[in-house]
Amino acid sequence: MTPTVAIIGGTGLTTLDTLRTAHRETLSTPYGEPSSPAIHGELGGRAVVFLARHGQHHTLPPHKINYRANLWALHRLGVEQVVAVAAVGGIRADMAPGVLAFPDQIVDYTWGRHCTFFEDNLSHVTHIDFTEPYCLELRERLIQAARELGLEARESCTYAAMPGPRLETAAEIRRLERDGCDIVGMTGMPEAALARELGMRYAACAVVANWAAGKVAGTISMAEIESNLAGSMDKVKALLAQVIPTLVPL
Ligand code: HPA
Repeated sequence: MTPTVAIIGGTGLTTLDTLRTAHRETLSTPYGEPSSPAIHGELGGRAVVFLARHGQHHTLPPHKINYRANLWALHRLGVEQVVAVAAVGGIRADMAPGVLAFPDQIVDYTWGRHCTFFEDNLSHVTHIDFTEPYCLELRERLIQAARELGLEARESCTYAAMPGPRLETAAEIRRLERDGCDIVGMTGMPEAALARELGMRYAACAVVANWAAGKVAGTISMAEIESNLAGSMDKVKALLAQVIPTLVPL
Protein backbone atom coordinates (compact mmCIF):
# COMPACT_ATOMS: atom_id res chain seq x y z
CA MET A 1 0.00 0.00 0.00
CA THR A 2 1.29 3.47 -0.82
CA PRO A 3 1.36 5.57 2.35
CA THR A 4 -0.75 8.62 1.58
CA VAL A 5 -0.56 9.88 5.15
CA ALA A 6 2.56 10.79 7.10
CA ILE A 7 3.02 11.62 10.74
CA ILE A 8 6.03 13.74 11.63
CA GLY A 9 6.80 13.20 15.30
CA GLY A 10 8.48 15.90 17.35
CA THR A 11 9.98 16.05 20.82
CA GLY A 12 8.25 13.43 22.95
CA LEU A 13 7.19 11.40 19.92
CA THR A 14 10.30 9.84 18.36
CA THR A 15 8.56 6.47 18.03
CA LEU A 16 4.93 5.59 17.52
CA ASP A 17 4.15 2.32 19.27
CA THR A 18 0.54 2.37 18.05
CA LEU A 19 1.80 1.96 14.48
CA ARG A 20 1.82 -1.69 13.33
CA THR A 21 5.24 -1.48 11.75
CA ALA A 22 5.77 -3.25 8.46
CA HIS A 23 9.24 -2.04 7.51
CA ARG A 24 11.76 0.76 7.83
CA GLU A 25 13.18 2.55 4.83
CA THR A 26 16.34 4.61 4.75
CA LEU A 27 15.90 7.38 2.21
CA SER A 28 18.17 9.83 0.50
CA THR A 29 17.14 12.90 -1.44
CA PRO A 30 18.79 15.54 -3.64
CA TYR A 31 18.82 17.67 -0.47
CA GLY A 32 20.57 15.11 1.73
CA GLU A 33 19.44 12.69 4.39
CA PRO A 34 16.09 12.96 6.16
CA SER A 35 16.10 13.10 9.97
CA SER A 36 15.31 9.39 10.36
CA PRO A 37 14.36 6.31 8.40
CA ALA A 38 10.74 6.25 7.28
CA ILE A 39 8.76 3.80 9.38
CA HIS A 40 6.07 2.23 7.25
CA GLY A 41 3.13 0.70 9.01
CA GLU A 42 -0.58 0.59 9.51
CA LEU A 43 -2.73 2.66 11.80
CA GLY A 44 -6.51 2.40 11.88
CA GLY A 45 -6.51 0.37 8.69
CA ARG A 46 -4.52 2.97 6.77
CA ALA A 47 -0.98 2.81 5.42
CA VAL A 48 0.96 5.42 7.31
CA VAL A 49 4.58 6.51 7.32
CA PHE A 50 6.22 7.93 10.42
CA LEU A 51 9.25 10.20 10.50
CA ALA A 52 11.05 11.33 13.66
CA ARG A 53 11.80 15.02 13.09
CA HIS A 54 14.66 15.20 15.57
CA GLY A 55 16.09 11.81 14.59
CA GLN A 56 15.50 8.35 15.99
CA HIS A 57 17.41 9.16 19.16
CA HIS A 58 16.35 12.80 19.41
CA THR A 59 19.78 14.18 18.53
CA LEU A 60 18.93 16.83 15.88
CA PRO A 61 18.25 20.32 17.25
CA PRO A 62 15.61 22.41 15.39
CA HIS A 63 18.09 24.49 13.35
CA LYS A 64 19.95 21.36 12.17
CA ILE A 65 16.90 19.51 10.88
CA ASN A 66 16.99 18.95 7.14
CA TYR A 67 13.41 20.05 6.54
CA ARG A 68 13.75 19.88 2.77
CA ALA A 69 15.01 16.29 2.84
CA ASN A 70 12.21 15.29 5.22
CA LEU A 71 9.42 16.73 3.11
CA TRP A 72 10.96 15.66 -0.19
CA ALA A 73 11.35 12.08 1.05
CA LEU A 74 7.72 11.91 2.20
CA HIS A 75 6.53 13.33 -1.10
CA ARG A 76 8.57 10.78 -3.03
CA LEU A 77 6.94 8.01 -0.98
CA GLY A 78 3.53 9.15 -2.25
CA VAL A 79 2.46 11.05 0.86
CA GLU A 80 -0.34 13.53 0.23
CA GLN A 81 -1.27 14.51 3.79
CA VAL A 82 1.05 15.30 6.68
CA VAL A 83 0.06 15.49 10.33
CA ALA A 84 2.86 17.23 12.21
CA VAL A 85 3.15 16.83 15.97
CA ALA A 86 5.22 19.52 17.68
CA ALA A 87 6.01 20.62 21.21
CA VAL A 88 5.40 24.29 21.98
CA GLY A 89 5.51 26.79 24.79
CA GLY A 90 2.23 28.36 25.86
CA ILE A 91 1.89 32.15 25.56
CA ARG A 92 -1.87 32.79 25.67
CA ALA A 93 -3.44 32.44 29.11
CA ASP A 94 -5.39 29.32 28.13
CA MET A 95 -2.34 27.55 26.66
CA ALA A 96 -1.36 25.66 29.79
CA PRO A 97 1.02 22.72 29.69
CA GLY A 98 -0.81 19.59 28.57
CA VAL A 99 -3.23 21.35 26.21
CA LEU A 100 -3.38 20.35 22.54
CA ALA A 101 -3.59 23.21 20.05
CA PHE A 102 -4.38 23.26 16.34
CA PRO A 103 -2.79 26.42 14.97
CA ASP A 104 -4.37 28.21 12.03
CA GLN A 105 -1.71 30.88 11.49
CA ILE A 106 2.06 31.23 11.66
CA VAL A 107 4.48 34.06 12.21
CA ASP A 108 7.92 32.98 11.06
CA TYR A 109 10.89 34.40 12.99
CA THR A 110 13.38 31.75 11.85
CA TRP A 111 16.37 32.69 9.73
CA GLY A 112 19.24 30.92 7.99
CA ARG A 113 17.27 27.76 7.23
CA HIS A 114 16.87 26.26 3.77
CA CYS A 115 13.29 27.35 3.40
CA THR A 116 12.31 26.63 -0.21
CA PHE A 117 12.59 24.13 -3.05
CA PHE A 118 12.26 27.00 -5.53
CA GLU A 119 15.82 28.23 -5.42
CA ASP A 120 18.18 27.03 -8.13
CA ASN A 121 17.88 26.37 -11.87
CA LEU A 122 14.46 27.98 -12.04
CA SER A 123 12.68 28.54 -15.32
CA HIS A 124 10.54 31.09 -13.48
CA VAL A 125 10.26 32.52 -9.99
CA THR A 126 7.57 30.86 -7.86
CA HIS A 127 5.70 32.35 -4.91
CA ILE A 128 3.33 29.90 -3.24
CA ASP A 129 0.14 31.22 -1.67
CA PHE A 130 0.46 30.92 2.12
CA THR A 131 -2.53 32.99 3.26
CA GLU A 132 -3.74 29.92 5.12
CA PRO A 133 -0.53 28.12 6.08
CA TYR A 134 -2.29 24.95 7.25
CA CYS A 135 -4.69 22.81 5.24
CA LEU A 136 -8.13 23.86 6.49
CA GLU A 137 -9.72 20.50 5.82
CA LEU A 138 -7.01 18.42 7.49
CA ARG A 139 -7.01 20.79 10.45
CA GLU A 140 -10.79 20.43 10.72
CA ARG A 141 -10.40 16.63 10.81
CA LEU A 142 -7.94 16.94 13.69
CA ILE A 143 -10.27 19.26 15.59
CA GLN A 144 -13.22 16.93 15.00
CA ALA A 145 -11.22 13.94 16.25
CA ALA A 146 -10.20 15.86 19.38
CA ARG A 147 -13.85 16.78 20.02
CA GLU A 148 -14.95 13.17 19.58
CA LEU A 149 -12.39 12.11 22.16
CA GLY A 150 -13.34 14.92 24.54
CA LEU A 151 -9.77 16.22 24.61
CA GLU A 152 -9.04 19.68 25.91
CA ALA A 153 -7.96 21.39 22.72
CA ARG A 154 -7.55 24.93 21.42
CA GLU A 155 -9.08 25.23 18.00
CA SER A 156 -7.62 28.49 16.76
CA CYS A 157 -4.24 30.02 17.50
CA THR A 158 -1.16 31.56 15.96
CA TYR A 159 2.14 29.69 16.06
CA ALA A 160 5.38 31.64 16.41
CA ALA A 161 8.31 29.81 14.79
CA MET A 162 11.51 30.79 16.60
CA PRO A 163 15.05 29.83 15.54
CA GLY A 164 16.19 28.08 18.73
CA PRO A 165 17.79 26.02 19.96
CA ARG A 166 17.76 28.23 23.01
CA LEU A 167 14.43 29.09 24.57
CA GLU A 168 13.23 32.69 24.36
CA THR A 169 13.82 35.62 26.67
CA ALA A 170 10.83 37.01 28.56
CA ALA A 171 11.01 40.14 26.38
CA GLU A 172 10.92 38.07 23.20
CA ILE A 173 7.79 36.32 24.45
CA ARG A 174 6.21 39.71 25.24
CA ARG A 175 6.99 40.77 21.69
CA LEU A 176 5.49 37.57 20.24
CA GLU A 177 2.39 38.22 22.32
CA ARG A 178 2.14 41.77 20.93
CA ASP A 179 2.49 40.25 17.47
CA GLY A 180 -0.58 38.13 18.13
CA CYS A 181 1.16 34.81 18.73
CA ASP A 182 -0.40 32.30 21.12
CA ILE A 183 2.11 29.44 21.14
CA VAL A 184 5.82 29.26 20.37
CA GLY A 185 7.89 26.48 18.85
CA MET A 186 11.05 26.00 16.80
CA THR A 187 10.17 23.53 14.04
CA GLY A 188 6.94 24.69 12.42
CA MET A 189 8.84 26.58 9.73
CA PRO A 190 9.93 25.99 7.07
CA GLU A 191 8.19 22.61 7.43
CA ALA A 192 4.70 23.94 6.69
CA ALA A 193 5.84 26.03 3.71
CA LEU A 194 7.84 23.19 2.17
CA ALA A 195 4.81 20.90 2.38
CA ARG A 196 2.79 23.55 0.56
CA GLU A 197 5.48 23.92 -2.11
CA LEU A 198 5.19 20.19 -2.78
CA GLY A 199 1.38 20.33 -2.85
CA MET A 200 0.95 18.22 0.28
CA ARG A 201 -1.80 18.91 2.80
CA TYR A 202 -0.25 19.78 6.13
CA ALA A 203 -1.70 20.48 9.58
CA ALA A 204 -0.17 20.54 13.03
CA CYS A 205 -1.09 19.24 16.43
CA ALA A 206 0.87 21.33 18.89
CA VAL A 207 1.38 19.99 22.37
CA VAL A 208 1.99 22.60 25.04
CA ALA A 209 5.03 21.46 27.00
CA ASN A 210 5.66 24.49 29.25
CA TRP A 211 4.63 28.05 29.91
CA ALA A 212 6.66 30.29 27.60
CA ALA A 213 9.52 32.30 29.13
CA GLY A 214 8.38 34.88 31.67
CA LYS A 215 4.81 33.59 31.83
CA VAL A 216 5.42 32.07 35.24
CA ALA A 217 8.21 32.70 37.74
CA GLY A 218 11.41 30.70 37.43
CA THR A 219 13.33 29.01 34.65
CA ILE A 220 12.26 26.41 32.12
CA SER A 221 13.98 23.04 32.35
CA MET A 222 14.21 20.21 29.83
CA ALA A 223 13.04 17.89 32.60
CA GLU A 224 9.83 19.92 32.94
CA ILE A 225 9.29 19.93 29.16
CA GLU A 226 9.93 16.20 28.87
CA SER A 227 7.73 15.25 31.78
CA ASN A 228 4.81 17.38 30.54
CA LEU A 229 5.16 15.93 27.05
CA ALA A 230 5.29 12.39 28.39
CA GLY A 231 2.00 13.11 30.15
CA SER A 232 0.41 14.29 26.88
CA MET A 233 1.52 11.66 24.42
CA ASP A 234 -1.29 9.22 25.19
CA LYS A 235 -3.72 11.95 24.12
CA VAL A 236 -1.75 12.56 20.93
CA LYS A 237 -1.67 8.85 20.11
CA ALA A 238 -5.41 8.58 20.72
CA LEU A 239 -5.95 11.57 18.47
CA LEU A 240 -3.86 10.05 15.68
CA ALA A 241 -5.71 6.73 15.95
CA GLN A 242 -9.02 8.62 15.74
CA VAL A 243 -8.12 10.91 12.84
CA ILE A 244 -6.10 8.67 10.53
CA PRO A 245 -9.01 6.44 9.42
CA THR A 246 -10.94 9.59 8.43
CA LEU A 247 -8.23 10.77 6.03
CA VAL A 248 -9.33 9.43 2.68
CA PRO A 249 -6.71 9.34 -0.07
CA LEU A 250 -7.00 12.47 -2.19
N1 HPA B 1 9.77 27.91 23.11
C1 HPA B 1 10.09 27.43 21.90
N2 HPA B 1 9.93 26.15 21.56
C2 HPA B 1 9.43 25.31 22.47
C3 HPA B 1 9.08 25.75 23.76
C4 HPA B 1 9.25 27.11 24.09
O1 HPA B 1 8.97 27.57 25.22
N3 HPA B 1 8.63 24.65 24.44
C5 HPA B 1 8.69 23.60 23.57
N4 HPA B 1 9.17 24.00 22.39
